[in-house]
Amino acid sequence: MTQMTGDEISDIEIKLLMEGLFQVYGHDFRDYSEASLRRRLNQWLSTSGFATISLAQSQLLRDRALFETLLRGITVNVSEMFRDPSFFKAIREHIVPYLKTYPFVKIWHAGCASGEEAYSMAILLIEEGLQGRFRIYATDINEEVIQKAQGGIYPLQELQHFTRNYQNAGGTGSFSDYYTARYDHAILSANLRENIVFAAHSLAVDADFGEMNMILCRNVMIYFKQPLKERVLALFDSSLITGGFLCLGTKETLDNRNISSQYETIVPRMQIYRKRYAKK
Ligand SMILES: C[S@@+](CC[C@H](N)C(=O)[O-])C[C@H]1O[C@@H](n2cnc3c(N)ncnc32)[C@H](O)[C@@H]1O
Repeated sequence: MTQMTGDEISDIEIKLLMEGLFQVYGHDFRDYSEASLRRRLNQWLSTSGFATISLAQSQLLRDRALFETLLRGITVNVSEMFRDPSFFKAIREHIVPYLKTYPFVKIWHAGCASGEEAYSMAILLIEEGLQGRFRIYATDINEEVIQKAQGGIYPLQELQHFTRNYQNAGGTGSFSDYYTARYDHAILSANLRENIVFAAHSLAVDADFGEMNMILCRNVMIYFKQPLKERVLALFDSSLITGGFLCLGTKETLDNRNISSQYETIVPRMQIYRKRYAKK
């Protein structure tokens, strides 16, 4: 028999650990893409003091607090306000006119990280005159980032970049109207938060949210393998009203997906799709 390489052994260790974590905590990372999972786990190992994944396993399965540190290490939570400004510009120009035809609009940001995307949407909709006519549901698997999102507090040094994004996204006011600067951080206005419900939710194991007019899931599925991507898209399909909009990240598309025939592309190159009224 040929000798296994270190990487091959660590792939087996990862599989065993993911199975155990699913059985014990109900968190399912079994269909996350191997390369990024291995990278994140190795980073976690280097700070946790365990020499190998197998050595960490028995404690991870018994110690929830330790598992929580791993959960935080596995997920990639980077985000920014008005990330990919041209995407938000396209929402403003091409999607908002449809949204305005509804008496009330429900939007789900799945994998919202620390909330920047959801707050950006709230600003955009308020500027478009939809105040009082929309609710945003912003969810993430990582409870720590959800708490951060609820606070709506961001380092002041990021604000210059956020302001530039806001302007490039077609912002019609002044970005400084939406926050108060305090020492080294900025606190977003409470009236933005009033429109957003933040909650913990896992796309890998939890159920759908009903009757959404729009779902955004950007820069989340890039970390998933094919079967999990299909599960998540089916979840979105059952959560969207017909005529509702599905928005993915710049590196994610509906091409070659099981449900793609049920959607039309609304803004090419922006991964903004609309659920068809008539089934194909
Ligand atoms: C890179 S961030 C994307 C944030 C935001 N959508 C954006 O584009 O700026 C990816 C987020 O997906 C979340 N995530 C990963 N797996 C998830 C799952 N199974 N269910 C829900 N959220 C998940 C992570 O915790 C992380 O906050």
